[in-house]
Amino acid sequence: MVMKSNNHLEPGIARPRVRTARMPVADIISFSLSWIRNPLRVAAVAPSGPAVAALMTQEITAETGPVIELGPGTGPFTYALLDRGVRERDLTLIEYGSDFIRLLQTRFPQARVVWMDAAWLDKYKLFENAPVGAVISGLGLLTMPPHKVVAILSGAFGYLRRDGAFYQITYGPRCPIADPILDGLGLQAACIGQTRRNVPPASVYRITRRKP
Ligand SMILES: C[S@@+](CC[C@H](N)C(=O)[O-])C[C@H]1O[C@@H](n2cnc3c(N)ncnc32)[C@H](O)[C@@H]1O
Repeated sequence: MVMKSNNHLEPGIARPRVRTARMPVADIISFSLSWIRNPLRVAAVAPSGPAVAALMTQEITAETGPVIELGPGTGPFTYALLDRGVRERDLTLIEYGSDFIRLLQTRFPQARVVWMDAAWLDKYKLFENAPVGAVISGLGLLTMPPHKVVAILSGAFGYLRRDGAFYQITYGPRCPIADPILDGLGLQAACIGQTRRNVPPASVYRITRRKP
């Protein structure tokens, strides 16, 4: 079932939370088929569940402003962002998997859906200056070569405000961004939550610029 956005709701009327409270079977099937076709790129057997979506978006509010999402897949974090009050037109969704593009365009018609490798963020001028308040990343960084992780982070921070943050999911036991990469880019990482109520269990890291 394709779920529509609820932008017709009047201001002040709560957006139904049903979208983050369950995961449609069709999403699990299409996501798993995509994983079978390209396990390295998709990097997970099932879409993220509501517990990790809540962790990923816990610090984001309507005041965050423009948000970039990297690797939205079927959109579990995107729905959670809308539930947090982010305006759909403030969303830029960067997805490399062609399987997900049409679905994202249908589900989030006011968002900007960009079919592109997240490592090319700095090759295209997605924003003037750096107005972005948060980057949400569902990318499987652990399976990517270091130069690609550097390209993704430096591209993303090129759009982030000074007070902006990059939120990264991982299924590993520590931050998926190696210390030399963080050091080289002047960044710091902090774990802001873990959950076992996800397949697989997941943690979320907040990456920010180091204070001068
Ligand atoms: C682990 S899945 C996460 C999907 C979704 N965020 C979730 O949590 O269910 C990783 C997603 O990143 C996408 N992806 C992988 N490499 C990418 C890249 N270089 N640029 C943009 N998207 C990429 C995949 O197609 C997939 O949708």
